[in-house]
Amino acid sequence: MTRRAALAGALSLACAVTAQAADPSNGGAIYQRLCAQCHGMRGQPVLPVAPDFSSPTALMKADPALLAVIRDGRGAMPAYQGQLREREMLDLVAHLRTLRGRR
Ligand code: HEC
Repeated sequence: MTRRAALAGALSLACAVTAQAADPSNGGAIYQRLCAQCHGMRGQPVLPVAPDFSSPTALMKADPALLAVIRDGRGAMPAYQGQLREREMLDLVAHLRTLRGRR
């Protein structure tokens, strides 16, 4: 393979990865099924100790930090490792970001 062909291959691979951006609507469907019972449909908590995702100051953490809480759990928040794929957790984070500041 020529160097140019290798570069073209690397570029198209990069584009393919970008094309798989997180899908907030899939995240929304999973959220309704698994998360809304505690976090509320619009992110306003049902469970008093859960954070308010609809607050403008919510979710200030970067995606990997939020992903870690979903994967490993924290306090009353259950761990979803083994139950959800990494891809689904990323879709969930994308959905959570749509809830912020929407009350
Ligand atoms: C049984 C109730 C419950 C369920 C179900 C639940 N959570 Fe939570 N979640 C909590 C509580 C309580 C916290 C606060 C944990 C703490 O800090 O003590 C939390 C915290 C979080 C955080 C951390 C927010 C931050 O700013 O650090 C994220 C992200 C999160 N939940 C997402 C989800 C997602 C996505 C789902 C569904 C897959 C889900 N939760 C399901 C109760 C729940």
